[in-house]
Amino acid sequence: MNDKVLVTYASRAGSTAGVAEAIGKTLTESGIQVDVLPMQEVEDLAPYRAVVAGSAIRGRKWLPEAMEFLHDHQGELRQKPFAAFMVCITLSMKNAEQYREGLKDWTKPVYDMVRPVCEGYFAGALDFSKIPFSLNTLAMRLVALAGAWKEGDHCDWNAIRTWTESLLPLLHL
Ligand SMILES: Cc1cc2nc3c(=O)[nH]c(=O)nc-3n(C[C@H](O)[C@H](O)[C@H](O)COP(=O)(O)O)c2cc1C
Repeated sequence: MNDKVLVTYASRAGSTAGVAEAIGKTLTESGIQVDVLPMQEVEDLAPYRAVVAGSAIRGRKWLPEAMEFLHDHQGELRQKPFAAFMVCITLSMKNAEQYREGLKDWTKPVYDMVRPVCEGYFAGALDFSKIPFSLNTLAMRLVALAGAWKEGDHCDWNAIRTWTESLLPLLHL
């Protein structure tokens, strides 16, 4: 088996891709060989000794392409150390900590397929210029207008680095 780790992601507007790149960079700095790939480009998990997979949240759910990836690869993922992360805007809110425990429900469909050794929950970014208009995005804009969350990049790069470093023993790296 290869010694590489796969960091794979589902992203619509790019912030989850950025979080995945940051995770990959921290692993690389720890001397680990890493591929960072969108889930649609992953065909085979055989070359990887461990997998870190994450999705943007939309409508309190992992993206459909992320669920499809986990569904298709669940058998192989159960045989490897696997960590999961999600990226959302709720964690950018002022009172975010009161929601953190509840956010685990959004990852429950993932546990039902394959149980991660560790889960990361991160604030992402909101940039309406990158999001096509729809009823769902209108709701997001209205909540932003009401002040519950703000447009902008809310990624906490230190938290992402700390989480990634905590993965090393859990993924047997
Ligand atoms: C249509 C839409 C629905 C969203 N639904 C949620 C949600 O239910 N909960 C949440 O915390 N964030 C939600 N978000 C915010 C995204 O999860 C956040 O902006 C994330 O960083 C997007 O990742 P991406 O840039 O990789 O697509 C939503 C964003 C959009 C555009």
